[in-house]
Amino acid sequence: MKFANILFEVRNKIAFVTINRPDKLNALNDATLDELEQCFNSIKKDGAINVVVITGKGEKAFVAGADISELHNLDVVAGKTFAEKGQQVFNLIEKLGKPVIAAVNGYALGGGCELALACHIRMASKHAKFGQPEVNLGIIPGYGGTQRLTRLINSGISAELILTGDLIDTNEAFRIGLVGKVYAAEELMEKATELAEKISSKGQVAIRMALRSIVSCDDLPDAEGQNLESSLFSICCGTEDFKEGTLAFLEKRKPNFKNS
Ligand code: COA
Repeated sequence: MKFANILFEVRNKIAFVTINRPDKLNALNDATLDELEQCFNSIKKDGAINVVVITGKGEKAFVAGADISELHNLDVVAGKTFAEKGQQVFNLIEKLGKPVIAAVNGYALGGGCELALACHIRMASKHAKFGQPEVNLGIIPGYGGTQRLTRLINSGISAELILTGDLIDTNEAFRIGLVGKVYAAEELMEKATELAEKISSKGQVAIRMALRSIVSCDDLPDAEGQNLESSLFSICCGTEDFKEGTLAFLEKRKPNFKNS
């Protein structure tokens, strides 16, 4: 797939999606959001892709937010459509059905932080910076940030970040649970690829069932979540991979998963 604002590559069943507007710190304009939607719709259908890694082009930014030059022209009606479109694209990423890893290589602000939040796993380089600075522009996060950030971390810390618009460094993002791993900038993509390869080497039915259960956690009350978990568990019990994984353990060898 070829895009104007995104680089897309598949290696070894891993899709690498790179937001490619480095001169604008990879800010998400309308065209880039459209391309992200197209790209992730295609990844969803592609049986040859197991895991996705998303990052930003250049050393400075993952994504520095929605494109402020486009924001400036919004009115009340257009603002609702604008926010809903971003939410729709980020919901597509969260509900992709395949693991998405955010390799946060610099500024992850506003829509950039929200994009990372829509991914299932976040890792960052030491010099990355995170924040929801929308209040400084007279708006609030509109691509799911008030919801996902508040669910992910302590709600008081989420409120403090959103209400002050303050930026935090990677150490602080790690401390509050916003990112799971921190690496030197030059190591980040290698580590993201290693993690993607590790996940890709497992039986993909179990990976997808586990992800579905994890993602549903936000939507379902505990009893329904546990009911879904036991149903997905039972689906796994009917797979060849389950027979192979358990047999391989008993025979003290590595499993040879067939993803069925
Ligand atoms: N939308 C549109 N353009 C953006 C942008 C955004 N969110 N973030 C950065 N840019 C552009 C700048 O306008 C500048 O373009 P120019 O060279 O044509 O003037 C270019 O990216 C480089 O940014 P610059 O501000 O010069 O870099 P910096 O190192 O001085 O500052 C930031 C970096 C991230 C602190 C600063 O760019 C910033 O505050 N960006 C906006 C962050 C934000 O509010 N995001 C939430 C939006 S809802």
